[in-house]
Amino acid sequence: MSTSCILRNGRRVFALISGGRRGTCALCGVQRRFIIDLSYSTHFMDFKGSSIPSSMKKLMVTKLSQHFRDAVALQTVPVPTPGDGELLVRNRFVGINASDINYTAGRYDPTKKPPFEVGFEGIGEVVGLGLSASSRHAVGDTVAYFSDGAFAEYTLIPAQKSVPVPAVKPEFLTLLVSGATAYIAIKRLGDLAPGQTVLVTAAAGGTGQFAVQFAKQAGCHVVGTCSSNEKAGFLKVIGCDRPIVYKSEDLAATMRKEYPQGVDVVYESVGGATFDLAVNCLANKGRLIIIGFISGYQTASGIPTIRGGTLPVKLLQKSAGVRGFFLPHFLEDYKEAIGNMMRLFAEGKLLCEVDCGDLAPEGRFVGLESAFRAVDYLYAGKNVGKVVVELGSSTLDSKL
Ligand SMILES: NC(=O)c1ccc[n+]([C@@H]2O[C@H](COP(=O)([O-])OP(=O)(O)OC[C@H]3O[C@@H](n4cnc5c(N)ncnc54)[C@H](OP(=O)(O)O)[C@@H]3O)[C@@H](O)[C@H]2O)c1
Repeated sequence: MSTSCILRNGRRVFALISGGRRGTCALCGVQRRFIIDLSYSTHFMDFKGSSIPSSMKKLMVTKLSQHFRDAVALQTVPVPTPGDGELLVRNRFVGINASDINYTAGRYDPTKKPPFEVGFEGIGEVVGLGLSASSRHAVGDTVAYFSDGAFAEYTLIPAQKSVPVPAVKPEFLTLLVSGATAYIAIKRLGDLAPGQTVLVTAAAGGTGQFAVQFAKQAGCHVVGTCSSNEKAGFLKVIGCDRPIVYKSEDLAATMRKEYPQGVDVVYESVGGATFDLAVNCLANKGRLIIIGFISGYQTASGIPTIRGGTLPVKLLQKSAGVRGFFLPHFLEDYKEAIGNMMRLFAEGKLLCEVDCGDLAPEGRFVGLESAFRAVDYLYAGKNVGKVVVELGSSTLDSKL
């Protein structure tokens, strides 16, 4: 199955297309460049004769803040040289995540002080590499990665963190954090069985879209929350049985009326009042997986308030459970998750919706500067699928 996103009268229209989206073999027609060993010691680089500039644009956190625009500055810095086990990747697409602002606020590692780099994931071409890395990689390889410092025209990554991809398509980027989170959280913590009911909050977003699809593939009935009819239409396309537009329907009343026995699993990303509501919706022996609490990220503490005092009694009365999930704690499952999702995508069984901001007020997110707009867009709840920034023509002057 696949969809196409057609723009009509400035609105998205989602349509099913038979046959699915299949990745084409990317390396066909891609010219490989010989590696030129400039240093005769540790580094293989292809600066010579290539269009890799000596300097590049990069986003740096210069001040800790949960407001991306206050925290981050666009800087011009030297293009780095790869160390022995590293790849230098020319980024073509980078992914925006809700947690980018947790990172800029210093919530990931409170000991980290600015300036530091930002951005969790990218996809592009290898343009330089160290000696050890050259045993498994070559200039011209197309790779994706989940590693720090993606918001730059070029990023150094440890070679072992690279994920080989058949083409530099933004769809592959959606799998690195958003897809992997849904795949592993549901597999490891969901304990899903056919016929069970799963509630996904922020269901039409970057990670929500995958949770919907994986729950459906497990034979479950899927309920998904979102803020607009347009998103509800998208949710239908990806198999959500009951999209609920929480801005026009009373979510609590709808859940009580339509699911009086409760739901078996909640994939919960919003937090605060939505978390409280989700706890109330749990069936006996239900499992609530805390994926995030985006409703609090823009506040000073980053943490929305919940009715914590009543939580033990509610869980006990239903023999229900709440578990947290944080992707970096499950990296042992990462390779399998990415491999299986790539296969499902190639078979047309997984839709990876990308939102590059074509309908954003100032247009498509092209160039690092547009990361600021892209973060605003995500926090305005406008995105359908994964928010992605394309690094545009100024960086695409390679002869590769
Ligand atoms: N635990 C992990 O390892 C992990 C990994 C990746 C992501 N996450 C979490 O997953 C959640 C989604 O992240 P994402 O990057 O995929 O973002 P996203 O879902 O693509 O975008 C955020 C969406 O959240 C919804 N939302 C609901 N309440 C909101 C509020 N108060 N403010 C802003 N948006 C609100 C909006 O859609 P609607 O309002 O239309 O529903 C918005 O489009 C976040 O909580 C994030 O921290 C966790």
